[in-house]
Amino acid sequence: MYEKLEQLNKLRQVVKAGGGRGRIEKHHESGKMTARERITTLLDPGSFRETDVFAASEEDFNNMKNPGEGVVTGYGLIDGRKVYVYAQDFTVSGGSLGRVHAAKICKVIDMAMKTGAPVVGLNDSGGARIQEGVNALNGYGEIFFRNTMASGVIPQISAVLGPCAGGAVYSPALTDFIFMVSGISQMFITGPQVIKAVTGEKVSMETLGGAATHNRLSGVAHFISGNEAECLRTIRVLLSYLPSNNLEEAPVFASEEPLISQEALMTVLPDDQNKGYDIREIIRGVVDAGQYLEVQPYYAQNGVVGFARFDGRSAGIVANQPCVMAGSLDINVSDKIARFVRFCDAFNIPIITFMDVPGFLPGVDQEYGGVIRHGAKIIYAYSEATVPKITIIVRKAYGGAYIAMCCSSLRADAVYAWPSAEIAVMGPEGAVNILNRKEISEAEDPVKVRKKLVADYQSQFSNPYFASLKGFVTDVIDPRDTRATIIDALNNFSTKQETRPRKKHGNIPC
Ligand code: HXC
Repeated sequence: MYEKLEQLNKLRQVVKAGGGRGRIEKHHESGKMTARERITTLLDPGSFRETDVFAASEEDFNNMKNPGEGVVTGYGLIDGRKVYVYAQDFTVSGGSLGRVHAAKICKVIDMAMKTGAPVVGLNDSGGARIQEGVNALNGYGEIFFRNTMASGVIPQISAVLGPCAGGAVYSPALTDFIFMVSGISQMFITGPQVIKAVTGEKVSMETLGGAATHNRLSGVAHFISGNEAECLRTIRVLLSYLPSNNLEEAPVFASEEPLISQEALMTVLPDDQNKGYDIREIIRGVVDAGQYLEVQPYYAQNGVVGFARFDGRSAGIVANQPCVMAGSLDINVSDKIARFVRFCDAFNIPIITFMDVPGFLPGVDQEYGGVIRHGAKIIYAYSEATVPKITIIVRKAYGGAYIAMCCSSLRADAVYAWPSAEIAVMGPEGAVNILNRKEISEAEDPVKVRKKLVADYQSQFSNPYFASLKGFVTDVIDPRDTRATIIDALNNFSTKQETRPRKKHGNIPC
């Protein structure tokens, strides 16, 4: 038996050594952790249990080639809760994906589905293992299929921790959240060399698909970190807001009063209602102290989405951001909001919407880019969502954007308005320009007449009371009562039951 154990230990060491000392040193020199170091940093100490340790093609096993098949798989704990994990090992054939590598990942996703636990994929791969041809492509197809089946059942999180090319980027794209690290993560379908050959364009790998590109420009990624340790830490934080699967609730923490006094909410809005301000001042003012994790903070900054806790319970926050493009809705923010709302709905996370929106962004680019079909996604996502939906109208609530940001007709469960709310088909200036054009142009003193008409319109429509009369607003509240009102509404609707017509699936505009 001891001899056999010795053989086992030797084999284990071969697998653990990955691509060998030389390649690991090179990997470290490029500022990267190895696959095993990443797993150890991600999980609670000592909790990792490896699976398929010796899985390999017979040829590779006999030749002691591709140890571990370039991917370490298994499960462990994050804050005491089970997660499944796989980490591609770039030191073994560039983390490229062959048949066995794919099978190991598939098994982890299958186990996660069976047991209802999240999957975290730590990706670092040159894509399909070229030597394995169609077997590698089939492996990707099997992973993509599983990512799609797992969508909305278990949270799927991807970190891209190296140059991920070709098929290596589509699995992350099918998951819920993508994390990238400045300087070491790149994602692209076709690399710089191919682009140069086909289009003649010269572009560096970092400019093409680095963390800044995907967090600011393309919207492919959701989080950017300065280093790998910070990235892995943020994954743990994100998971603290999520349930392990779609049948569970997110973990509950001790309630903590906000660090900011509720009195401060009285002075967030500028005196001039056409001026911007940072909506995060309101968000931070009402959530549990420090319990706020923004998602996609650098993309489509005219809207803000993120996870927070109220009285220790998770909620999704959606808000317009008046200090960027006046908080108007455009193509990119529509995609960002719609996807976030759908995630929250799939995982039983109530949605709190802070509305201050002047409308959809006007422009030829927006129309040509399909703002109609993109904007429709927000309406679709909110309408479809059956989790508790609480809307706070802080200031502007104009036109189609008022509807899209979860008004009562999209089945918000409660709509609260600050006294500063302006709920109307459009802003007063625009409205009098259309309704009273003749009267203004023919007036002796057009400026005076215009001013009066604007004031009349404001008193009639640009306030929360007209909407309250009709039952579209639950109550008009003192801003200082916002947190207490939200907590009360969340408690009230925590037992909400709502169904939608049975169907195979809907067809979200895209
Ligand atoms: C087999 C690969 C590989 C691959 C890298 N390697 N990519 N082996 N198949 N796809 C191997 C290299 O031969 C090398 O082996 C080791 O990994 C490290 O690679 P380097 O090139 O030395 O590293 P680096 O300079 O850091 O460059 C990393 C890289 C580059 C940018 C990822 O390797 C690269 O461009 N690879 C090909 C990327 C690609 O085109 N993938 C698409 C495949 S098609 P040695 O033994 O020398 O250390 C695909 C289609 C799927 O994925 C579509 C599904 C939708």
